[in-house]
Amino acid sequence: MAENNWLQGRHALITGGGTGIGAAAATHLHAAGAKISLLGRRLEPLERTAAIVEGKAIGCDVTDPDAIARGFDEARAANGPISFLIVNAGIGDSAPFGRTTRDTWDRIIGTNLTSAFDCAQAALPDLLAGEDARIVFVASVAGLRGAPYAAPYSASKHGMIGLMRSLAGEFAKSSMTVNAVCPGFVDTPMADQTVERIARTTGRSEDQARAAVEGMNASGRMVHPDAVATMILTLCLPQSRDVNGAALTIDGGTTA
Ligand code: NAI
Repeated sequence: MAENNWLQGRHALITGGGTGIGAAAATHLHAAGAKISLLGRRLEPLERTAAIVEGKAIGCDVTDPDAIARGFDEARAANGPISFLIVNAGIGDSAPFGRTTRDTWDRIIGTNLTSAFDCAQAALPDLLAGEDARIVFVASVAGLRGAPYAAPYSASKHGMIGLMRSLAGEFAKSSMTVNAVCPGFVDTPMADQTVERIARTTGRSEDQARAAVEGMNASGRMVHPDAVATMILTLCLPQSRDVNGAALTIDGGTTA
């Protein structure tokens, strides 16, 4: 069977879909025939990616549950009931724990974890009414082990994996699966921000800071966003129906 129509006409909603892993996932799911809705804060990158994947760009701050409700309704009006929910929007930050403020904690938990709860609830009726629906959470290796200098981020991704496992168990008898992908450092705008932050706070050059980040993956190189997108696509295929509750690492062996 040709791979490119396995998801024909089905609706994939991707949060934070304008850039990085979300944009790569949009490209892969579109190539497999899915109709794409891209939700995020910044319309310009969303519209650029939407033009490539013939998708719908929708402005939506995922920390606002009312905006999620409106955004998901707009997505349904454009592309029908949601079959695949890719919970990808996220932010990171790093600082010594003693200097990490409560405001940073709230911002990261709100964006990465509470929004995952809200998005899963907003899509649930569609997902349970359909066949072979999927939730894929974009977590991190920082959801599987601690991340020094990034406690709120690591806690948010651990929480996301707890949410994923709980939903996978609760709905195991349905045809919906719930899984997480757990990348190491991926070559995206978020990794660029990490490189920039390391250069700024340590006085190292951009090249030295990038080499330091690459060295945090066991492979010594960044993961390509397409590697994460390929895993997300694979999880969405009907053939993956028995992969449920998995936290799949794409990290070049970092957690081996
Ligand atoms: P990215 O910065 O390109 O993507 C994050 C997207 O989320 C952006 O498009 C951003 O606008 C959107 N976003 C952030 N806050 C939002 C909000 N309140 N409402 C709506 N959209 C919002 O970076 P990347 O790397 O593609 O990140 C995607 C996911 O992958 C994130 O959840 C991140 O934690 C995760 N991840 C990234 C890794 C990396 O090294 N780049 C490693 C492991 C996980």
